Amino acid sequence: MQSAEIHSRFLGHFEKLGHTVVPSASLLADDPTLLLVNAGMVPFKPYFLGDLPAPYDRATSIQKCMRTKDIENVGQTTRHGTFFQMAGNFSFGDYFKEKAIPYAWELLTAGYGFDGDKLWATVYLDDDEAYGIWREVVGLPDARIQRRGPEDNYWSMGVPGPCGPCSEIYYDRGPKYGKEGGPIADEDRYLEVWNLVFMQYERGAGEGYDYVNHLIGDLPAKSIDTGMGVERMAMLLQGVENMYETDLLRPVLDRAAQLTGAHYGAEHVSDVGLRVIADHTRAVTMLIADGVTPLNEGRGYVLRRMLRRAVRTVRLLGGDQPVMPELVGVVRDAMGPMYPELVSDFERIVTIAAAEEQSFLSTLRSGTTRFEVAAKQATAAGAKALSGADAFQLHDTYGFPIDLTLEMAAEQGLSVDEEGFRRLMAEQRKLAKDDRREKAIGNRDLSVFRALLDSAGTTDFVGYDTIESEATIRGLLGENGLLTSAAEGDEIDVVLDRSPFYAEGGGQQGDTGWLDLGSAQAEVLDTRHPVPELPALVVHRVRIASGEVQIGTSGNAKVDADRRAAISRAHTATHLIHRAFRKALGEAATQAGSLNAPGRLRFDFHSPSGVPAGALAAVEDEVNAVLIGDLAVRAFITTQDEARRIGAMALFGEKYGDRVRVVEVGDYARELCGGTHAARSGQLGLVKIIGEGSIGAGVRRVEALVGLDAFRFLAREHVLLGQLAETLKTRPDDVPERVGALMQKLRDAEKELEKLKAGAVLEAAAGLAAGASDVGGVAVVAHQAPSGTSVDDLRRLAADVRGRLEPTRPAVVVVGASADGKAQLVVVTGELARARGLKAGALVRDLAPLVGGRGGGKDDFAVGGGSDPAGLATALAAVAGLVTASS
Ligand code: SER
Repeated sequence: MQSAEIHSRFLGHFEKLGHTVVPSASLLADDPTLLLVNAGMVPFKPYFLGDLPAPYDRATSIQKCMRTKDIENVGQTTRHGTFFQMAGNFSFGDYFKEKAIPYAWELLTAGYGFDGDKLWATVYLDDDEAYGIWREVVGLPDARIQRRGPEDNYWSMGVPGPCGPCSEIYYDRGPKYGKEGGPIADEDRYLEVWNLVFMQYERGAGEGYDYVNHLIGDLPAKSIDTGMGVERMAMLLQGVENMYETDLLRPVLDRAAQLTGAHYGAEHVSDVGLRVIADHTRAVTMLIADGVTPLNEGRGYVLRRMLRRAVRTVRLLGGDQPVMPELVGVVRDAMGPMYPELVSDFERIVTIAAAEEQSFLSTLRSGTTRFEVAAKQATAAGAKALSGADAFQLHDTYGFPIDLTLEMAAEQGLSVDEEGFRRLMAEQRKLAKDDRREKAIGNRDLSVFRALLDSAGTTDFVGYDTIESEATIRGLLGENGLLTSAAEGDEIDVVLDRSPFYAEGGGQQGDTGWLDLGSAQAEVLDTRHPVPELPALVVHRVRIASGEVQIGTSGNAKVDADRRAAISRAHTATHLIHRAFRKALGEAATQAGSLNAPGRLRFDFHSPSGVPAGALAAVEDEVNAVLIGDLAVRAFITTQDEARRIGAMALFGEKYGDRVRVVEVGDYARELCGGTHAARSGQLGLVKIIGEGSIGAGVRRVEALVGLDAFRFLAREHVLLGQLAETLKTRPDDVPERVGALMQKLRDAEKELEKLKAGAVLEAAAGLAAGASDVGGVAVVAHQAPSGTSVDDLRRLAADVRGRLEPTRPAVVVVGASADGKAQLVVVTGELARARGLKAGALVRDLAPLVGGRGGGKDDFAVGGGSDPAGLATALAAVAGLVTASS
């Protein structure tokens, strides 16, 4: 049975049983406790917890998932992979165990045709209810129901969230695969295919399986979350040995074999390598499709690491050419029937994968050089092994896996201190883990916000259609917790039953405005979703200008119309700039972040290379042409499928759920967006890009002004140019030329000045040389130059004087000057003087303390300085005595 068929039978089965089919959410978890979606239930987490009302009682989905914890085991066993698909059915306070178990059984036996006699079930230790359902309703014999402890039969996300006991279904692959005795005896022979979780409790932070210690309490309702691994199902239904041989991965594996010359099935090591390439390439493709780009942190790092591992493995297996363009194409063909975005976004995906491969290949080249240096040093030192530190540096800085280092070392007759390497790796991993844990859990106490949402409820946003509406206060939050009332001067958070205020989101700033509450007046300073975990909670930050407000107070909520309009214009301009960049640079130039503020915007986008100056001007030109075209801006709600069909731009972090909001500007730009916009493109007036540059690997940022702000910017520049022209006594058009000519004149004048200065030094030098005093046969010059003379000039002067004296006499020349409140001393000695033991460095060391400082240098030339210019005369007067003493 093909995987696409496994998909449709699963969804069809549950759709018939009254479940809403929900499309897979993006892999980019909309959840601060997770880097990537790691289970089918993640998009539904707020419904289990009761943070959002569930839009349906029953749902079914096939969710894209990633688990990278066991990445080292990928390919080693038949069961480990990073990317996988989890098919699931969910009940939100609707049915519970009594239905979940028979539903799963029915699909496995009648739907997929499994022989019921080969299926086993496990239940949690004391879950007699689940046991009873398996025994009585399904009719499974006691011998094939096993009880297991919390490590196996209690499920949680591993981070704060919903949890509960579970019941797992296993398929017996037969004696060839291991020993008898059910799942508790052998999980290779008995393969887990489906996990039914009876979501009942909520757990807090903290690792480990001792759930009881982390339990926070009961969920608002008993719910169901199940997960069936599509990859495992495909493996069983296609009668192959492991998931890499299914139609999902086998084509990638075969192509990798062709590209490297390795034969699948020939030996374990190369088989593992081919599986790594297949798994990682598929994962990389899915991540890029969802908007991740290679970076050194977060999800971008997960992507980078896997792509590099795949590329390195290709090299280890003997491939020496780039492979990504080919392999990503094969993934598209295998997965495309289920994920059409792989087909529609192919150009962007393959561009990013290929660019990262290229950059890694050049890293690999420099790593090889580093390896050779390390190997040579080890050999030269008579060592038999490469040090753990070297292996670690190759891994950490150059991305060399230890097996590559081992192999290359072996070729040179060296071993590697693997233990040292692993110790360093463990240290690094511990640091990363601590860091991750801190980031994941944080210290934020959500309970007060949860209580606020519980008591105040959600807010009906009416701000797409109006900027003013009736509203009633439903919740008040002060610094110390929930309030029932607040008075003049208080700055508090207010929850309204309904609001025209847009809460900050999607890069758009939150609205400000006023609440007119009859006897009380308040200013709205900001509107936002204060906690990402509670997306339904909207608070208005408010300062009470007069009167007193309390829960239940009603009045009029009014958005600052000018500010909102200016923000909306910026948001529409962002869509236009996004579209124009994609047209100019290719489809890979997708949004990486944005800010829409009154009259200005910031737009970050992915671009592997820089933006040619011509492209920037073309983008600006095109956007302004769209403004003149005065296109209508239209927003509408539709299904994800329809949005995709009409080419709406949808990427990164888009909300799950089938209903999406599309904003289109005429036929020019079409994007999934929850923000507010101008009514027509003409309302933007003018868009002026004021800067563009790189803000990190592969990410560029443009900043632009919109409307009157853009006009005022240009008007100001015009005035400035006028002023410049007037000062330069020329026409504006001639300003650049005139400035160029002035710069040239200035440079000429500077050169001339240098020459004059040098002449003056020479003149002074001649005088000083002539006036040198004789100290015991040594010609000594100690001179104070005019204050402000630079060290360079002092040095030039001293060297010149020495040059005049030295051919005939031993010479010691000391010149000093004060500059900027400090004293500088330069000492030079001639060769004949040095032969008499007179050293510049030693002399300046003795002289510098007299100007309150220190000095030092070589025998022929030395400098010193101090904070006391008044000491210069004393220092210079001391020179003769020092010369006498030292020669
Ligand atoms: N959440 C459970 C799992 O991931 C069942 O879907 O195994």
